[in-house]
Amino acid sequence: MGTYRLEELSATTIVAANSLTLKPGQEQFVAPTSYALAESYFNPSTEWPRVVLDGDNVVGFIRGHFDPESDQHEFKSCIWRIVVAADAQGKGVGRFAIEALAQEAKSRGYTTLTVLWEAGDNGPGDFFHRIGFTDIGTTRYGEIIGEMTL
Ligand SMILES: CC(C)(COP(=O)(O)OP(=O)(O)OC[C@H]1O[C@@H](n2cnc3c(N)ncnc32)[C@H](O)[C@@H]1OP(=O)(O)O)[C@@H](O)C(=O)NCCC(=O)NCCS
Repeated sequence: MGTYRLEELSATTIVAANSLTLKPGQEQFVAPTSYALAESYFNPSTEWPRVVLDGDNVVGFIRGHFDPESDQHEFKSCIWRIVVAADAQGKGVGRFAIEALAQEAKSRGYTTLTVLWEAGDNGPGDFFHRIGFTDIGTTRYGEIIGEMTL
């Protein structure tokens, strides 16, 4: 496992974050329908986007979303997006990013962190379970809602 750090987005890193190459078959899991539909209504102050750097290389991207006013529990304190570059997967980058987001959520006073994902081969379900999320339900689009206690 390398030594990773988080940074806020910059003109340089946002391009790299948008260009992270995934493994074949993973693209379809990046943006579950519920997220894609809801995000057009967001206020930027609810977002916590960060790139993960290994040295000077952007190896991952995570976006937290915090909205205490949301009437949907799964949107109050959640992982909106997480992607790790194909050649950096399996080296602890995803775990590092989620642990950092969990710290951020805790510092904002939340006691849980949620995430939605679509079930399927090549999907992230086993990863989220390994990190400590348990299934607490499904959305109307059939995505799994996972939750971790902070
Ligand atoms: C899911 C994803 C973020 C995982 O990132 P990663 O950096 O490869 O994960 P890590 O190396 O931090 O793995 C952390 C743990 O999960 C385990 N793990 C990771 N992927 C796994 C998988 N597919 N199946 C089972 N376990 C897995 C690792 O073995 C590791 O276990 P350990 O810490 O006990 O040794 C990455 O595969 C990815 O970007 N996928 C495509 C995008 C995606 O699906 N995003 C989620 C959208 S909701």
